Amino acid sequence: MESILVLQGPNLNLLGKREPGIYGVITLESIQSLLEADAQELHVKVTTLQSNHEGALIDAIHGAIALHQGILINPGAYTHTSVAIRDAIAGVAIPTVEVHLSNIYRREEFRHHSYIAPVAIGQISGFGAESYRLGLRALVQHLRT
Ligand code: DQA
Repeated sequence: MESILVLQGPNLNLLGKREPGIYGVITLESIQSLLEADAQELHVKVTTLQSNHEGALIDAIHGAIALHQGILINPGAYTHTSVAIRDAIAGVAIPTVEVHLSNIYRREEFRHHSYIAPVAIGQISGFGAESYRLGLRALVQHLRT
């Protein structure tokens, strides 16, 4: 059974309360439950970590070597700033899918650039919690073909 690491970046712990007009009212726990149900159906294991700290996310990416076959990541604001997270993903060479609740290309210009996208298999942006579900399916499909 493939094992997928789900990484949630800064401020995503506030989902449900945080800017509901942009991110909706779904909580991180609910997203996790949805992914766990999907994982059962897809016959994969998911392990989730949320952190507000860049270094903790990088350590988790490094720790995925030999433990997880894929990474599903919402890097939050680090999407637009973190060369270090990008280098970590490139360094471990574990297939990674980038997801966003909001459509980052419909928002402020500083959100239009992702440092992560060039080292990801692909990016899903704008479908709320569905972005995670679609991303998980796409990642598992990629690993199996
Ligand atoms: C986000 C988009 C980012 O621009 C923002 O900083 C976030 C959330 C999203 O899921 O839509 O924290 O990654």
